[in-house]
Amino acid sequence: MITGSFPTTRLRRNRRDGWTRRMVAETTLSVDNLIWPIFVRAGDGEPTPVATMPGVVRVGLDRLAAHVEPAARLGIPAIALFPATPPELKNPEGTEALNPDNLICQAARLLKREFPELGLIGDVALDPYTDHGHDGVLREGYVANDESVEILERQAVNQALAGIDVIAPSDMMDGRIGSIRAALDSEGLIDTRIMSYAAKYASAFYGPFREALGSNAALKGDKKTYQMDPANTDEALREVAMDIDEGADMVMVKPGMPYLDIIRRVHERFAVPTFAYQVSGEYAMLATAMEHGLLDRERGILETLMGFRRAGAAGVLTYFAVEAATLLRRG
Ligand code: PBG
Repeated sequence: MITGSFPTTRLRRNRRDGWTRRMVAETTLSVDNLIWPIFVRAGDGEPTPVATMPGVVRVGLDRLAAHVEPAARLGIPAIALFPATPPELKNPEGTEALNPDNLICQAARLLKREFPELGLIGDVALDPYTDHGHDGVLREGYVANDESVEILERQAVNQALAGIDVIAPSDMMDGRIGSIRAALDSEGLIDTRIMSYAAKYASAFYGPFREALGSNAALKGDKKTYQMDPANTDEALREVAMDIDEGADMVMVKPGMPYLDIIRRVHERFAVPTFAYQVSGEYAMLATAMEHGLLDRERGILETLMGFRRAGAAGVLTYFAVEAATLLRRG
């Protein structure tokens, strides 16, 4: 009898059939883990394609409900709204962010009426509204922290009053979570949640997003004085700790795939709902490869999303959300 040549443990046994693979799967991916970012634009008519993001559009208010309907029907818990503000409404102080009838507020009111069960996430930062493309206001060429935070507080209240459920500050100013929490509370908006872009890196992967919102052409310089250096991880933990301390209900790591190690560390250290943003550049990269037949679309989408879940993410903001939800519902 030959004994030594048989491995006692054969990990392939559990991989042999679909049913055992399902039984031993350590991670799950469901529709509940998906958040869909949407670009809203001024004007009516057919949605306009975003050239750098195959399959992604900017949608006017007249088509917004129809555009969002599949997400609501599939049971996607929340969508994230981003405005393509007309250039003539942009100025150095980003005052359109405070207009109670700006694109986001109009979209929020409309969507709350149509889909009361759908969570609405509002990005708080000034870059869609400033003519220089920065997330705060400039003083002598530098993004001024405390003055920017004062405006962001008002921007957050403006959005929450219009029906935004989750304020998502993406500006990376210091102290903004605490200030926004206090501003919301003082308006009686005690149940408005805050999902902070806690660890947001100064990344090349936001390029297509800035193209989509028209903040690219506008952007003077880079965002390295407020967004994080891709070299750092300990600093990400400090950012997250501060934001939780200041009242964040959920935190986010951004971009996604190149920063899975950060998601892992944040999730393990803080045990707070941690979200990942599979950003525009990641989408562009994947969708372009898929369009050219270089990557299998369905498997590629689900594998990247599973990767975020495996790293510890509670959910993922992804431009693939509706497609992924369709695949997941189909089973
Ligand atoms: C705005 C903001 C950005 C993104 C989300 N909110 C761009 C930036 O910081 O320049 C990027 C999202 C994406 O690339 O998909 N502060």
